[in-house]
Amino acid sequence: MIAEIETTEISDAAALETFRIRFLGSKNIIKPLSASIRDVPNEQKREFGLLVNEAKTKAEEVFNQVQNRLSGDTSESTDSPDLSLPASPLPVGSRHPVSLVMEEIIDVFSRMGFEVAEDREIEDDWHNFTAMNTPEDHPARDMQDTYYVASPPGWLLRTHTSSVQARVMTTRKPPIRIIAPGRVYRNETVSARSHCQFHQVEVLYVDEGVSFADMKQTLHHFAQAMYGKEVVTRLRPSYFPFTEPSAEMDVYYGLADEHAHRITKGTGWLEIMGCGMVDPAVLETCGIDSTKYSGFACGMGIERQAMIKYRINDIRLLFENDARFLKQFASVV
Ligand code: DAH
Repeated sequence: MIAEIETTEISDAAALETFRIRFLGSKNIIKPLSASIRDVPNEQKREFGLLVNEAKTKAEEVFNQVQNRLSGDTSESTDSPDLSLPASPLPVGSRHPVSLVMEEIIDVFSRMGFEVAEDREIEDDWHNFTAMNTPEDHPARDMQDTYYVASPPGWLLRTHTSSVQARVMTTRKPPIRIIAPGRVYRNETVSARSHCQFHQVEVLYVDEGVSFADMKQTLHHFAQAMYGKEVVTRLRPSYFPFTEPSAEMDVYYGLADEHAHRITKGTGWLEIMGCGMVDPAVLETCGIDSTKYSGFACGMGIERQAMIKYRINDIRLLFENDARFLKQFASVV
């Protein structure tokens, strides 16, 4: 019988079940043998009993082995798992290029002593426009097409991070040295170059004796940290309601290839931010004595700088969250 148990071929679950019924089921063929022990002469009883037990144990062993094999468990023993084996690697995510550039900008200004000040994206008209020297009938409101929320009336999705200037200046006393990163919204047609949502970083420095030269040097230092020591920058006169005088800062991108011609519109220069001396009227509106204090401010788009840095030619790629695009950037460590 033991020989039969050992040599039975069991290749599938049906064969295993037949085996179980024959050797281990309630009417198995070993049972009558156990019962017949009383007919065995005394001197052979012991040996007979051992053989019957061996048959039972063997049948159980074969059954367990085959059951494991059929269920895909190939381990022959019950040894514990090898804990020294390296773990299977998990897929690691990557940082979004907008986050990478935003953090880099924050890092550069933090090293110069600026503190991060974040504030709300749903803003009231006063902080977004009026306090920034842009009253209701001011034509500059047309520069930024605004999304208004249904209620409360007059509340809107902030069109720029300049609103944080008003939030900070009305609640703190100079010296103020802050940088405000965040998302902004404008009712613009989505295209390769513009989007209805994007990110800005606002910079504000208010203290006694802050000058245009301080601004120029700070912003040039920033450009060097971002684009390398050799970067060439220029300030171009411009207009913003909340700064006087106002300027835009350009970095020289060059005209080396067709791409450079296209994105600089043939000039070689790329604008990266608006800036200027905080208009005394803004300081006064926010409760800061403009005869004692002066300041500079600037606001820059983050997507634009990410596009320059990583040579991305369509802003929409930054909002689609396509993993094939995103995994090209530095991975999370
Ligand atoms: N808020 C302006 C915009 O979104 C950018 C800007 C320009 C911010 C000049 C400033 C500034 O702080 O001084 O177009």
